[in-house]
Amino acid sequence: MDNQSTRILSEIIQRRRTRKPAQFSKTPPPIELITELIDIARHAPNHHRTEPARFYLLNQEKIRQLGKLFGETLTGDGKDPVLVEKGSRKTMEWGEAPGILLVTCKTDKSSGLVRKNPAVIEEDYATCSCICQNLLLLLESENIATKWSTGAVWEHSNFANTIGIQDPENERVVGIIFYGYSEQLVPERSLSPLDQHLKTY
Ligand SMILES: Cc1cc2nc3c(=O)[nH]c(=O)nc-3n(C[C@H](O)[C@H](O)[C@H](O)COP(=O)(O)O)c2cc1C
Repeated sequence: MDNQSTRILSEIIQRRRTRKPAQFSKTPPPIELITELIDIARHAPNHHRTEPARFYLLNQEKIRQLGKLFGETLTGDGKDPVLVEKGSRKTMEWGEAPGILLVTCKTDKSSGLVRKNPAVIEEDYATCSCICQNLLLLLESENIATKWSTGAVWEHSNFANTIGIQDPENERVVGIIFYGYSEQLVPERSLSPLDQHLKTY
């Protein structure tokens, strides 16, 4: 690999690791930078040009509310002390995060496009996943650590209302992206040998 762009991109892809939000610095990265990176990240392959991703960039108050909802979701009816403990731990961990971006995928299932091409539902989700990875890599390149979570906070009956989900019937959460500055060192992840997963003709 002697192309410099390829080297830089490869390095960022391999350096990105999931890091623990509990260890993020309390200082949030600048909102203008995050917004700019979200805009760039949207440049992902998108069949039918549906632009399915919706973004909810939370402030500290919304982050605290989301943490409370997740804690309550985990705690359930409060009868299991293990779940109660986990609920209060996650309320703190989520509620004190310096930055959270919620990414949803909006596909109108009653639209003519989806009725004609049901695959659009999966294709839209694929686009949103690409956008999330684009964003993780852009954040990594700015030395901002991330964690992509699918902790099922949307199961809470107050979720859509608290976050102000614009079209709850047609949006599903793709990722709860935690971001912040972090000193946590995580080594590169080793994968199984490629020849176990690749057939070349
Ligand atoms: C769609 C998706 C959902 C994830 N949800 C969670 C989650 O709910 N909780 C969690 O601890 N990690 C979650 N992760 C992070 C993965 O656990 C992590 O990517 C994996 O362990 C590989 O580590 P790496 O990201 O450092 O390469 C999620 C990742 C993806 C792509």
